[in-house]
Amino acid sequence: MDAIEVLFARRSTGRLVGPAPAGEDLRTILRAAAAAPDHERLRPFRFTVLEGTAKDAFGRVLADAYTARCAAAGTEPVPAKREKERTKLGRAPLVLVVSAVRQPAAGVPWDEQRAAAAAAAQNACLAATGLGYGSMWRTGDPAYDPNVKAALGLDASDAIVGWLYLGSYRDGVAPAANDPSLEGLLLPWPPP
Ligand SMILES: Cc1cc2nc3c(=O)[nH]c(=O)nc-3n(C[C@H](O)[C@H](O)[C@H](O)COP(=O)(O)O)c2cc1C
Repeated sequence: MDAIEVLFARRSTGRLVGPAPAGEDLRTILRAAAAAPDHERLRPFRFTVLEGTAKDAFGRVLADAYTARCAAAGTEPVPAKREKERTKLGRAPLVLVVSAVRQPAAGVPWDEQRAAAAAAAQNACLAATGLGYGSMWRTGDPAYDPNVKAALGLDASDAIVGWLYLGSYRDGVAPAANDPSLEGLLLPWPPP
């Protein structure tokens, strides 16, 4: 696939199976992420690879964080929701957490540092696509939870930009390519 084909071939795939990207493929995905544009080369992005027992252990972190969010809100945890938190990383054989760690630089607003980390996440998804793997970028409440951030070694003021679920397509069948419409996306200038 050439680069333009990869852009359209990237589709979110909810359930992925093994094999996960490993070895040189995983390294290529991480290096593609680190090649993201980044104002002042601050390198605010960080990557955490979760697989195998680490993924199971992190599922328990997500379940406990859910219970703690319920306690803080004064609500009873719903057992099925806690179980979903505990098991949801099982939707792919490898989960890559992309975070933005706030760099003290007066000239580069935090929004731009987060944008650089988002670009890194997209680069990772595109690299995975180009190498023949499926991907899905997810967030949800845990991404904003200080307990989850702490479990990743982040400060509450840092950001989890996404959980990138990576793996192989079931039965080797990739989803149909994106065919986006431009309707409503082009703003005339000057504005009417
Ligand atoms: C920052 C961000 C967070 C997202 N979080 C979720 C999520 O938590 N759950 C989900 O189902 N889709 C989430 N998505 C959307 C999907 O990854 C996907 O892009 C969308 O469903 C469109 O499908 P496509 O990627 O195949 O075009 C998120 C996308 C982005 C960019």
